[in-house]
Amino acid sequence: MRVFVTGATGFIGTAVVRELMDAGHQVLGLARSVAGAKSVVAAGALVHRGSLEDLESLRTGATAADGVIHTAFTHDFSNYGPAAEADRRAIETLGDALAGSDRPLIVTSGSLIAQAQGPLATEDDRAKPKFPRKSEEAALALAARGIRASVLRLPPSVHGNGDHGFVPYLISIAREKGISACVGDGLNRWPAVHRLDAAHLYRLVLEKSSAGATYHGVADEGVPTREIAEVIGRHLNVPVVSKSREEAAAHFGWIAAFFGMDGAASSALTQKRLGWRPVQPGLIADLNARHYFEQTADAAVVRS
Ligand SMILES: NC(=O)c1ccc[n+]([C@@H]2O[C@H](COP(=O)([O-])OP(=O)(O)OC[C@H]3O[C@@H](n4cnc5c(N)ncnc54)[C@H](OP(=O)(O)O)[C@@H]3O)[C@@H](O)[C@H]2O)c1
Repeated sequence: MRVFVTGATGFIGTAVVRELMDAGHQVLGLARSVAGAKSVVAAGALVHRGSLEDLESLRTGATAADGVIHTAFTHDFSNYGPAAEADRRAIETLGDALAGSDRPLIVTSGSLIAQAQGPLATEDDRAKPKFPRKSEEAALALAARGIRASVLRLPPSVHGNGDHGFVPYLISIAREKGISACVGDGLNRWPAVHRLDAAHLYRLVLEKSSAGATYHGVADEGVPTREIAEVIGRHLNVPVVSKSREEAAAHFGWIAAFFGMDGAASSALTQKRLGWRPVQPGLIADLNARHYFEQTADAAVVRS
């Protein structure tokens, strides 16, 4: 298939591009800059210049493809509303371009969005209505119109070499403040997945998805956040402390709300429906592999 990939230059998108090409697909990667275009070419993919704001570029990219994987997102927490709105418009545009065909559109979402009805959030749980990111709502509205749009929810830690998400940000805070903290007793859990396992799942969803389906790219169902704080403390040789919710807001800033969330999730239905099996190291093993503590951890991006 010829696959249009938005976010082809990102942490997850680059792994998706590699996964698709290794499986014999052709990739058309969205790039919004000269540097981005160069990296898409270096990966062996075709470049499609454009951006999330340039809806015509998304329309032509999707029109030229047999399927679309949408991973681009502007991770600007200080301006989250417009980022979420641009994402929603982009999804609608991509879906419109695929209307009247069986060509799939895979939309990225986050597992913390799921409104869990039991101890683990499942693929069948709906999105929390108050979450500002509307990727799922937009995808499901397309599916209701007969477009083969589906949702892939990723956990708050998609980890691996080159990660510049939540966990590196937690490391940078611990390094700067000289303590590694958790919120309360730190028994709240975060699910996680390695980026290579996530990339493999994107391909399976592309090849096998049904309209309106939701999939979970979850390998670790729930790592207690205290364990994450402890690994960080050990590698940085700083004490591990507990912060009340009020103290955590001052200590962590914007990430406090996310790090304090209990969001354990299952991917049992995804594994059953698609035959996906995560095989890469889990989050704690990956953190213990040290590359997290060798890279400069100054990036602060927002995941949902
Ligand atoms: N990484 C995680 O732990 C995690 C967890 C849960 C959900 N997610 C979701 O997974 C998806 C991929 O995340 P990621 O970690 O790969 O993010 P990332 O490394 O920050 O990459 C973001 C990608 O989106 C592109 N992009 C951003 N704004 C754009 C715009 N206005 N127009 C066109 N392209 C734009 C970037 O292009 P440039 O290279 O030009 O900047 C880049 O290719 C996102 O939807 C994210 O929210 C990630």
